[in-house]
Amino acid sequence: MAADDASLEGLGRYALRFVKRGHTVGLGTGRAASAFIRALGASGIEVRGVPTSKASEQLGRSVGIPIVSLTEAGKIDTDFDGADEVDPRLNLNKGYGGALVREKIVAASSRRFVVLVGEEKLVKRLGDRGRIPVEVVPFGVPLAMTRIKALGMTARVRENSGQRFISDNGNFVLDCTVKRIANPARLDRELIAIPGVVDTGLFIAMADVVLVAEGSGKIRVLKR
Ligand code: A5P
Repeated sequence: MAADDASLEGLGRYALRFVKRGHTVGLGTGRAASAFIRALGASGIEVRGVPTSKASEQLGRSVGIPIVSLTEAGKIDTDFDGADEVDPRLNLNKGYGGALVREKIVAASSRRFVVLVGEEKLVKRLGDRGRIPVEVVPFGVPLAMTRIKALGMTARVRENSGQRFISDNGNFVLDCTVKRIANPARLDRELIAIPGVVDTGLFIAMADVVLVAEGSGKIRVLKR
């Protein structure tokens, strides 16, 4: 069952201990990251934020966080984001919300990456919750579908209310299902090698800390 709003609000407030005045922080996308952004705005801690999506930019501005581009920021101190799956090595699967490309760029630009999840996101293997998102430039979709099939997966173009979902980068997202991922790092490399693939939701060896809302207000801290 998905973490409730109160658990995520608590998780957002808990994550403030990783923020220092003057820091530049990555602002993730999704419910958990939004709870953090609201807590950060309410805290009054002076920071600058680099958003991972148009939605997180809008939310950050609305709660009074000064927004800067990646170019203006240079280096980011800590990125705060959610995830769709976390495996026992703290590898992640992300992008159910469709912001995976900017999320991976911001995470890779950060000195530290803190992930906020409910315990339903903890999985034995990446892919267990059903799909790996892959962002593809529209022109490359037919080739990507063929190559993904050859890798033993099925892919479908993501739709929202009967319309093809379009990412903030103007691309499509393919949701790929796979029976069992033996080696997520290898699968990530194989997918990225397909011409037209922009990036995948597999975030391998990127998370430093995972904060897990266990319900009843308890938070578990996992470190890599
Ligand atoms: C957005 O594209 C995703 O990667 C989100 O970070 C992820 O889907 C987690 O979102 P929730 O906190 O809403 O579950």
